[in-house]
Amino acid sequence: MGVENLPKTLWWEDGVVHLVDQTRLPLQGDVLVCHTYEGLITAIKSLAVRGAPALGVAGAFALALWSQVEGREMSANDNGVAPAIYFERCAAVADEVIAARPTAINLSWGVRQIGELVQANRDKSPDELHDLIVAHACELATEDETANRALGAAGAGLFDTPTKFLTYCNAGSLATAFYGTALGVIYAAEAVGNVEHVWVCETRPVNQGARLTAWELLQTGIPSALICDNMAADVMAKGWVDAVIVGADRIAVNGDVANKIGTYALAVLARAHEIPFYVAAPMSTFDPDCPTGKDIEIEERDEREVAGVTVSGMIEPTTDTITRAFDALTTEGVCELTLAKGHEMTVDRKGAGYAFDAWFRTTPPQTMIYNPAFDVTPAEYITAYITETGVRIPDC
Ligand code: MRU
Repeated sequence: MGVENLPKTLWWEDGVVHLVDQTRLPLQGDVLVCHTYEGLITAIKSLAVRGAPALGVAGAFALALWSQVEGREMSANDNGVAPAIYFERCAAVADEVIAARPTAINLSWGVRQIGELVQANRDKSPDELHDLIVAHACELATEDETANRALGAAGAGLFDTPTKFLTYCNAGSLATAFYGTALGVIYAAEAVGNVEHVWVCETRPVNQGARLTAWELLQTGIPSALICDNMAADVMAKGWVDAVIVGADRIAVNGDVANKIGTYALAVLARAHEIPFYVAAPMSTFDPDCPTGKDIEIEERDEREVAGVTVSGMIEPTTDTITRAFDALTTEGVCELTLAKGHEMTVDRKGAGYAFDAWFRTTPPQTMIYNPAFDVTPAEYITAYITETGVRIPDC
């Protein structure tokens, strides 16, 4: 039990990026391998890798993949340095990666770290640049874990008795290279015996709480219970919550916080019940170029996230006849099954078995849908920001 039971979220190995596929957790613990930056962009958009700090590392790894595949194909000039087109393409790819998800500042932060490194080394060859980029991207992953452990320790200092926490979305190890931010504080508090219980909000529509946070807390052995998002007021009113702790995707200069849609509602509820509301985030989440929450671009996602539920898993045939049926269905690769009422399912071979990905519609097909992925909590609702440099109380 403990954080050592958790997997690393993403890492560079043998010239490719490995990541735990978070679209399939907790039912399947698949590792996705990305060979190209385009593949990694797809993984970012689909939420296979997600959470602000993890996106920062993914952004840096995306440029490492570009420099390895396309960058190294470019011949050095006669003087042994990368041609001008190398730097133009690198900047264009950086913009493409940043555009994959607009709200979390960490994604552009990670990409810009690599961009600055490349600019500072314009006298190097594509091969030399590639080595530098990979080394720096791996360093960002290590630094992220170090920052999370430091902010965890700083945050744990706020709690000197066993505490009942409520958390939202997944600001855990899976949202970072390792360890987590909001959950990092809870892991550090648990290590000194100061966690009594954690309430996990399911976090509709994508259920990062129900799927990822609930899973992380089970792996670490921390006592927790899952609630639907609309049950938070009830557990607060009953006196079952001592502190709310969440992560952040971007923090504006005035202290406004963009985080998973529904965070603002929790902050208002916490204020109404006189419960402290903490935001745990590394310094890379603070955006010095963003004056207020109104200046934060909020990502809107596919309406299918709200219109239905996605489930992935394995089919375990119980007879030879069923095995033969699935063999036949998947002879030519992925099989798309046509289901009534707009439900969708694909089946594919995986190892010795068959994996399915299903989307089940839960709303009438013509329903209009609005699906912002984040909201902004005004600074006035925040008790303190917990960072690797210590705990900061807002000025307002
Ligand atoms: O859409 P997601 O899953 O990337 O959203 C993640 C969140 O909102 C997290 O709370 C935030 O990134 C902080 S993670 C340490």
